[in-house]
Amino acid sequence: MRTVRISDRVHYIGVNDRTTTKFEGMWPLPLGVSYNSYIVEGSEKTAIIDGVEASRAMQHIDAIKQILGDRRPDYLVINHMEPDHSGAVRMLRQAFPGIVIVGNAMTLAFNRGYYGIDSQTLQVKDGDTLPLGGDTTLRFHLTPMVHWPETMVTYLEEEQTLFSGDAFGCFGALNGAVVDTDMNTARYFPEMVRYYTNIVGKYGQFVQKALKKLEGLAIGTICSTHGPVWRSQIKEVIDIYDRLSRYEPLDNGATIVYGSMYGNTEIMAETAAQALAEGGVKEISVINASHTDISYIIAEIFRHRGLIIAAPTYSDTLFPPVAAVMEAIALRGLQNREVAVVGGHTWSQQAIKAMQQYIDACRLTPVADPVSFKHAPAADSLAQCAGMAAEMARILKVSANNG
Ligand SMILES: Cc1cc2nc3c(=O)[nH]c(=O)nc-3n(C[C@H](O)[C@H](O)[C@H](O)COP(=O)(O)O)c2cc1C
Ligand SMILES: [Fe+2]
Ligand SMILES: [Fe+2]
Repeated sequence: MRTVRISDRVHYIGVNDRTTTKFEGMWPLPLGVSYNSYIVEGSEKTAIIDGVEASRAMQHIDAIKQILGDRRPDYLVINHMEPDHSGAVRMLRQAFPGIVIVGNAMTLAFNRGYYGIDSQTLQVKDGDTLPLGGDTTLRFHLTPMVHWPETMVTYLEEEQTLFSGDAFGCFGALNGAVVDTDMNTARYFPEMVRYYTNIVGKYGQFVQKALKKLEGLAIGTICSTHGPVWRSQIKEVIDIYDRLSRYEPLDNGATIVYGSMYGNTEIMAETAAQALAEGGVKEISVINASHTDISYIIAEIFRHRGLIIAAPTYSDTLFPPVAAVMEAIALRGLQNREVAVVGGHTWSQQAIKAMQQYIDACRLTPVADPVSFKHAPAADSLAQCAGMAAEMARILKVSANNG
């Protein structure tokens, strides 16, 4: 592997993973994922910033040797202890026995617990600096709960480069180029929405705190732990993280998530979609919860302002694939959405009640009364469903005109 120079002092030494099928055992990786790592060279000392996942240790060590030759890295800065970045730390220690591990108190405690490492460590606090010699200084800013409690970012002052950990990261392995200016980045933006909403989505308020804290920093380059290095599209990337962490939708479209065993609820979902389209909504995602991976459903729900959920009652409860979606959005504390529910039953009407509870947990107010149907959708319930969707279209259009 050829290593990539990002600036006079910074090299990219990350690795691609196109083997793992599900990140964190849950989130599909059709485009793969990168574990980004960097070397910062000062005139006296050299620091590696963030590591890689265990299975890629050899590749990572080879890249370091390729750049440093006979020299040895002095520090490993761990911005985030999740094993996709720290998994290879023991192998790194074996390859470079003198390396000092730099982290905050919680990082070092996690590092002890995971890897049994409790010597040659350097504990840093919020705002501390680590001089690497000459005009190369790293400064640490603690940004807890983005998305673990120990997370921090590292700022290379002289180059205005932010090593941001998972913040501003995305799924998608790197295809040759590393820096955004050297590639078409289009494929990474949907993968950023999916990465943020799936993994960080619950911690919007902490991401907001981190963004406020970093507001004063001039940022010329973002070196996150996943996806491209951002230089020319920093504004777009920060805007996506800012809007999603404020739970603001990215557009005035609508997601219709439905579950259906025998097609009755599906007819209601199609009816709602047609009424939304007739009402002028152009971005509509109709998703069968049994068909599409929940990772994509969460991302679509965060993307659009409107949300219609339709499901039958199943064994005295909400149809489980739809319950899983509701659980996922309640866990993430979804806010600021226009919602409506459609529920079917044959002998006991539980679907609507359960959907309502999830929506109440998010403190969302539905745009219309729940649409209930029994057995199969009859003319009156179809008309009510279309009416509900028309009302949602009207509200979404008002939002579009205001925004
Ligand atoms: C396996 C199974 C379990 C069901 N459990 C319930 C139930 O507990 N209460 C109820 O009112 N209806 C129950 N139903 C009926 C469905 O909720 C109802 O027929 C629904 O309208 C079917 O919509 P669909 O065609 O979209 O699957 C059940 C149906 C099936 C197939
Ligand atoms: Fe992480
Ligand atoms: Fe990560």
